[in-house]
Amino acid sequence: MKKREHFGSRFAVIMAMAGSAVGLGNIWRFPYIMGQYGGAAFILVYTAASIILALPIFYAESIIGRRARTDTFGAMSKLAPGTAWRWAGLLTILSPLLILCYYSVVGGWSVEYLFKSLSFSFTEVPVEEVPHFFKRFISSPWQPIFVHTVFMALVAGIVLSGVKDGIERFSKVAMPALFLLILVILGYSLTLPGAFKGVEYLIKPDFSRLTADAYAAALGQAFFSLSLGVGTVLTYSSYIKKDEDLFVSGVGTAVSDLAFALIAGFAVMPAVFAAGLQPGGGPGLVFETLPYIFNKMGEGLPILTTLTSSIFFVAILAAALTSAISMLEVGVAFLTDERGMNRRSATLLLAFLCWAVGILCSLSFGSLRGMTLLGLTFFDFLDHLCSDWLLPLGGFLFTVFVGWQMSKDDVRDEFTNGGTKNVRVFGVVYFLMRYLAPVGIVVIFLTNLFL
Ligand code: PFF
Repeated sequence: MKKREHFGSRFAVIMAMAGSAVGLGNIWRFPYIMGQYGGAAFILVYTAASIILALPIFYAESIIGRRARTDTFGAMSKLAPGTAWRWAGLLTILSPLLILCYYSVVGGWSVEYLFKSLSFSFTEVPVEEVPHFFKRFISSPWQPIFVHTVFMALVAGIVLSGVKDGIERFSKVAMPALFLLILVILGYSLTLPGAFKGVEYLIKPDFSRLTADAYAAALGQAFFSLSLGVGTVLTYSSYIKKDEDLFVSGVGTAVSDLAFALIAGFAVMPAVFAAGLQPGGGPGLVFETLPYIFNKMGEGLPILTTLTSSIFFVAILAAALTSAISMLEVGVAFLTDERGMNRRSATLLLAFLCWAVGILCSLSFGSLRGMTLLGLTFFDFLDHLCSDWLLPLGGFLFTVFVGWQMSKDDVRDEFTNGGTKNVRVFGVVYFLMRYLAPVGIVVIFLTNLFL
């Protein structure tokens, strides 16, 4: 039998897992949601949701992945042979690939904006013109497809090189670099005149804004941010060595993800307020507001604008790439483990399919804008389907699998490395996986259904 690849060290495991977790969700989604739901008060709820509900699901995926040492479909078939659980495995192969289709389009935008920054395109026009680039660009037919192609080719190139030489090597360089880059932006942003208002917006605890949907938003954000319920944690865990500490890698990933979200919040919001703008969420923040801010702050000094915006878009690109490779790897692991395909063919086939569907997502900002499903453009439809339904559904299935299908002895054996580690926390983690996490997810479902 072919030898299965492994991550080389604990550092590599955490960098790859954190690479999957830290992405656009941290840079634009977290600061915006945090501001909307009461700043520091939201951080408390978010942290609690991450520890009590998200982390147990992370551990459930880790336990399944490392126990079975194979892809999500194979893992379910191996640990619960002859049952319908394998279909859950199949679902969680499909969902990350669906996310990749539209994530790559946004990844492509960061390629375009990096190029625009480096070529001084923003500084050649009046500052007021800069936000208008975005709508013109995304609705144009060819350019967004071209950069989506470049992004997908980069993702495929990394995954093609393998777990150790591709994913591990890239994440070990990209993640520390990303951290440094965002610290530079943080320093710059905090020194801008008027930045304090942004800091205040983020830290002032406003408990009155902690409404029922704030709790659902915290949990939904924790899910998306930690890439839960889509088989990426399961698949990466199947590459973790048997003597590695699962508890530590989970905590390491969650802490890096939260730290990154907070730093990104403090790097982005003060700049927004310093420029006299209102915080808004979504792609508009990253691609309209921030380039405008970098230009406004660097007016008359094109080199400063070029430097700050290039650093920012390299950071976005790195964050998007490390997340996107984890999405593709889930499907590649399936085709190589279950169908005996070689890594090269599996990667090229799946990258091609996601690229083709991604074209429809890209065109849904332009010529296919009128083509809607349930009143949503194709891009928005896929986004809602995945974030609101498929992620929580996958997470629910994984915790129920570990809490109710696997035997408690097997779960304990895997989590404690055969009774040698974290034996004392196991009881708490098991309780959370078996009872609290599934109930928490049902609550998100109901909130999404009724709000
Ligand atoms: N966690 C990523 C982010 O915060 O941007 C998004 C993500 C990555 C979702 C990988 C799903 C996934 F499989």
